[in-house]
Amino acid sequence: MCGIFGYCNYLVERSRGEIIDTLVDGLQRLEYRGYDSTGIAIDGDEVDSTLIYKQIGKVSALKEEIAREKPNRDVTFVSHCGIAHTRWATHGQPEKINCHPQRSDPESQFVIVHNGIITNFRELKTLLLNKGYKFESDTDTECIAKLYLHLYNTNLQNGHDLDFHELTKLVLLELEGSYGLLCKSCHYPNEVIATRKGSPLLIGVKSDKKLKVDFVDVEFPEDNAGQPETPLRSNNRPFGLGPKKAREFEAGSQNGNLLPIAANEFNLRHSQSRAFLSEDGSPTPVEFFVSSDAASVVKHTKKVLFLEDDDLAHIYDGELHIHRSRREVGASMTRSIQTLEMELAQIMKGPYDHFMQKEIYEQPESTFNTMRGRIDFDNNKVILGGLKAWLPVVRRARRLIMIACGTSYHSCLATRAIFEELSDIPVSVELASDFLDRKCPVFRDDVGVFVSQSGETADTMLALNYCLERGALTVGIVNSVGSSISRVTHCGVHINAGPEIGVASTKAYTSQYIALVMFALSLSDDRVSKVDRRIEIIQGLKMIPGQIKQVLNLEPRIKELCATELKDQKSLLLLGRGYQFAAALEGALKIKEISYMHSEGVLAGELKHGVLALVDENLPIIAFGTRDSLFPKVVSSIEQVTARKGHPIIICNENDEVWAEKSKTIKLQTLEVPQTVDCLQGLVNIIPLQLMSYWLAVNKGIDVDFPRNLAKSVTVE
Ligand code: F6R
Repeated sequence: MCGIFGYCNYLVERSRGEIIDTLVDGLQRLEYRGYDSTGIAIDGDEVDSTLIYKQIGKVSALKEEIAREKPNRDVTFVSHCGIAHTRWATHGQPEKINCHPQRSDPESQFVIVHNGIITNFRELKTLLLNKGYKFESDTDTECIAKLYLHLYNTNLQNGHDLDFHELTKLVLLELEGSYGLLCKSCHYPNEVIATRKGSPLLIGVKSDKKLKVDFVDVEFPEDNAGQPETPLRSNNRPFGLGPKKAREFEAGSQNGNLLPIAANEFNLRHSQSRAFLSEDGSPTPVEFFVSSDAASVVKHTKKVLFLEDDDLAHIYDGELHIHRSRREVGASMTRSIQTLEMELAQIMKGPYDHFMQKEIYEQPESTFNTMRGRIDFDNNKVILGGLKAWLPVVRRARRLIMIACGTSYHSCLATRAIFEELSDIPVSVELASDFLDRKCPVFRDDVGVFVSQSGETADTMLALNYCLERGALTVGIVNSVGSSISRVTHCGVHINAGPEIGVASTKAYTSQYIALVMFALSLSDDRVSKVDRRIEIIQGLKMIPGQIKQVLNLEPRIKELCATELKDQKSLLLLGRGYQFAAALEGALKIKEISYMHSEGVLAGELKHGVLALVDENLPIIAFGTRDSLFPKVVSSIEQVTARKGHPIIICNENDEVWAEKSKTIKLQTLEVPQTVDCLQGLVNIIPLQLMSYWLAVNKGIDVDFPRNLAKSVTVE
């Protein structure tokens, strides 16, 4: 939920001002992940001192705070590591004291930035309080910083001068929950630790010299080490402890003690991976950028390495070493450096006022990109490279379970019927959290389809692990390349919508929708009985980018509606049926999250079972009245509304005579959209609602890209 960023320079002279600007700029590009407070930690003027700057609010507030504090920007550093954080509160109110970096003590011997939740932090806090540590914040993260200091001191007292990564392994043994974290310490100058479990983290590498290797060896604990246990949780001894220490540990843990553990008791294989020496072996000037997201790295370098869960990266002396805090059979031994294809321009706003507006307007192009190279419109063929080899297995599935959250869930609802129709396989659509709460039965011959823009949503990720544990085949429909869901699923499709920065999902929705329709089409390409229907849909898809472009022309009309009759309304109903029910739910979600106006998507057939009681001449109602087999039923639902003095706005097809005729006798308005195939109409129909939510919010002066209480990537349960 939060964004973390780190910058290390080695043999590249940088002034403090440049370092601060790099960290702050990195945060600015991560702001969409959370933005209730921000902070950075850098080296101070005295040896072994650390400067921390924090502020409530967005990165601009942090900038002002740093300017007020007037650090000496001219001091230069040949080697330096700085860390930074933008926060979305999980533990503790958004107050300055709770901002990250969190420190171990007033001298800031260890400072931490953290994304995730430490679930056993209360236990740890009690223990550390008993040891005399004083806490300043309500955060779970502060425990990690204090744990570092405690384990550092106790080991030192026992004559063990641990490496930074060895100390980190001891700390990680104690943590339960999820983390992407960076640690910096005056005891390990110019070094930084980056480690992750359940939260994304990647490292960008920039060097003018040609680097000797393009991968990093991963160091595993020895075979006998086994999986680390958390002493406080299970009373099992930590891995690598000899029998004597184990007895001490068992005695100690019953008393709530954390034991000092020496490095040599770990039996670690010594580091071999000098990954960033130049070809001639001489020390190489190099810069490392550690981040939760490529968006903040791409400006500096396109060479990145994605960390996996339980990777512990140690950066020092211009080198990157990756250790594993857990051993598992079959785990990959290398982390290769990949070249990002994302251009910085792609993540900038361009001529638009907000990212959301830009992303709405990008849809003619993003929907085209989703199909590009995958649909042969001349021969009516769909080829999805990431799925092709798995299609025979999917076709034999007893059931498809589509699992997602929020907008991604709506794209599943929007395409369920066409999946069922084309594949003849029963399909269930699940909200990830509810699916897990119900402990839904999953079998080996089920196929789980996981849809996510970020590829990092914790609930969806947990549901994915749940299905993997039960032996189901898993398919990812994901936007963020290299994200956890795209890496953990057996196979899948990248929706290729490009980076989505606005918190409200727009272009990812239409691209997910298309990717799912393409998936359904691929499933049925061996079915003679479906040929005509497939051709109809494929040819319909060809027209979609142009049709979306056409609907965008409705903007002035929608803007006007938002500034007049929809202005100052407290609530709004959206009616849809069949394929348009998903559009009603998605439209209502967009309006709620961006404009803070209550809105509700209602299945038109359910009106008479309760919702009709809300209808009067004042309640704004938007109804999807485009043509498909359910059209007569939709007309009848809308008549129920107008009979109660409601005067709906109908989203209908161009020149539809039925609505033209009705508008002569009933008070209604229409917003006309082009007609397409029934199962694709939702792609066109959602656009007016995206625009409406945008203008309702702008008119209220809401910061559209950063709606209150929300974050772009929800990496906590
Ligand atoms: C709404 C929105 C959210 C996300 C949801 C899932 O506009 O963006 O509802 O759709 O949090 O996120 P992803 O798709 O990243 O898994």
